[in-house]
Amino acid sequence: MAILEDQDTPNFQEESTKPIAEGGAVEQGASDESKVAAFEARLQDENDIPVGLSLVKTDAKLKDVILPQIVKDEIRSFIEDQNDYRIFLDGGITPKNKMVLMGPPGNGKTQVTKAIANEMELPLYFVRYDMLQSTKQGETSKRLGVLFRFVKTHRCILFFDEIDAISKDRGESKDDGDMQRVVSNLLVQLDDVPPHVIVLGATNHPEMLDRAIWRRFHGRMLLPNPGTDELEKYTKVAFNKWGHAPNINLRTLAITLDAENFAEVEVFVENCHRTFVRSKAKDDVPMTIEQAIQRARDEWPRIRVKIPKA
Ligand SMILES: Nc1ncnc2c1ncn2[C@@H]1O[C@H](COP(=O)(O)OP(=O)(O)OP(=O)(O)O)[C@@H](O)[C@H]1O
Ligand SMILES: [Mg+2]
Repeated sequence: MAILEDQDTPNFQEESTKPIAEGGAVEQGASDESKVAAFEARLQDENDIPVGLSLVKTDAKLKDVILPQIVKDEIRSFIEDQNDYRIFLDGGITPKNKMVLMGPPGNGKTQVTKAIANEMELPLYFVRYDMLQSTKQGETSKRLGVLFRFVKTHRCILFFDEIDAISKDRGESKDDGDMQRVVSNLLVQLDDVPPHVIVLGATNHPEMLDRAIWRRFHGRMLLPNPGTDELEKYTKVAFNKWGHAPNINLRTLAITLDAENFAEVEVFVENCHRTFVRSKAKDDVPMTIEQAIQRARDEWPRIRVKIPKA
């Protein structure tokens, strides 16, 4: 999986000078042809991407993400409905386009988003909150406006990773007025997103989201912590990724790792592969992968970074 094209150099332009591509946003009451045209409009020029967005290219695949069948079915049906948008437009309705992915860390929220973008062959934009926020009065909201105007010009996926970072419950938030303005602005913008723009949000803290934000989404998908079966399956996949098929009981390994999520197993398997690679380069008698696993397993309780309980 390659993450490329991060827009490190802001190329923010004034809202008023930003052209909107033909076949762009669906206006209310727009004719069916213009709605179809909006679904078919493609990104014209990567240089047009405004500050606050990073185009992320990925080869993630849904088949490699281990999920409860019900969640996988939900994701498949979401993709299918979006691809079949004409059926819905003909029926006078639009396909769902706004979903929140939630669940504990390290279980595939970001990965699923990338897989959806890759399978739908759509540009995936990560919202970069650090680049959106400005100390200049009103600037943050202005940038948010430019960002939404841009994404409406073509079919794409707009991803708010860790969406709780910018949409904290306004009742609970101790943040200053600036954050509250951003949330209000975001609410208005989300209401206005046309169906050819897919909006995905991810959060580990659903309880922290402003309640009004929830209403803007069509649904939520819960990606839970894995059980032993899923961890065993993933351990095999993770070793295969590095070209290993260890001759050990992977279920026993998965149990002894006591991992809470897939990401922890990924870290462990990378440690094994590092040990293997180092030994191959440096030792007179290089370790086998099984020996490298044994070494990594001995070190695991000392080096693992365990997520503190909330
Ligand atoms: N369900 C899964 N199936 C297969 N691999 C997974 C799964 N979940 C996570 N992984 C692996 O763990 C890594 C981290 O996953 P990801 O970043 O998608 O988690 P996340 O839910 O977005 O976590 P966070 O809440 O911390 O952002 C991925 O790169 C992927 O390799
Ligand atoms: Mg994530």
